[in-house]
Amino acid sequence: MEIYVVPDAPATGVVAAGILAAVVRSKPNAILGVATGSSPIPVYEALAAHDLDMSQLRTFALDEYVGLPAGHPQSYAEVVRREVTERLGLDPARVAVPDGGAGDPHEAAVNYDSAIREAGGIDVQLLGIGHNGHIAFNEPGSELDSRTRVEVLADRTRQANARYFRSLDDVPTRCITQGLGTILEARQLLMVVRGADKAEVLAAALSGPVSPECPGSVLQLHPHVTVVADQAAATHLDAFRQVTLQVATPSA
Ligand code: PGA
Repeated sequence: MEIYVVPDAPATGVVAAGILAAVVRSKPNAILGVATGSSPIPVYEALAAHDLDMSQLRTFALDEYVGLPAGHPQSYAEVVRREVTERLGLDPARVAVPDGGAGDPHEAAVNYDSAIREAGGIDVQLLGIGHNGHIAFNEPGSELDSRTRVEVLADRTRQANARYFRSLDDVPTRCITQGLGTILEARQLLMVVRGADKAEVLAAALSGPVSPECPGSVLQLHPHVTVVADQAAATHLDAFRQVTLQVATPSA
């Protein structure tokens, strides 16, 4: 596992985008696994600044709410369209998000899992981590070999995501999420973490027991993991050899 520690959130974006850009340069038709939430935003911002041909890329998102109306601004289909597809100038036909509006979301989940496999598997999967240790929407208790499926969101997750909605009541209760087993099949995992409020859970994921109680702990089972953390999130990672990078980020 490689751990890069950088001064701040924009720097996490610069370093992670550099890793993604290297993948795209060596494999222009790479399959990127994209994540939503606040942590990956600086990555997409920094990646957009690279002079890259991304026309052949395919992307698969990690998860989606179940039951939001089509076009809802907080559906991950819309978030991915705004933050990834448009920002990077990707071909929308090559961008996949689980179908949270499907009549049968369980079937949609199974089909999504198959689509990833049929596409050849994800080359590099971008990840954040939730305060409860979730990755994608794999909440504590998720089986380590779980597949893409319908899940019930943890209260803590709904509370954290309420900032994107008018009220907590408007946050959906269910989602479709790639499973932990699905995520582990990506050839490389790239986790981006920022903020002191993530320091404990990041240390638990990387050095605590591998357990469904901390879904992010599955990173320990994967042979090619890169973590990019800001200094605040990295304060509990003493057990690891870390590489500290000074990264110049463009001023806002
Ligand atoms: P955040 O969310 O990047 O907005 O902190 C991460 C997550 O919940 O997976």
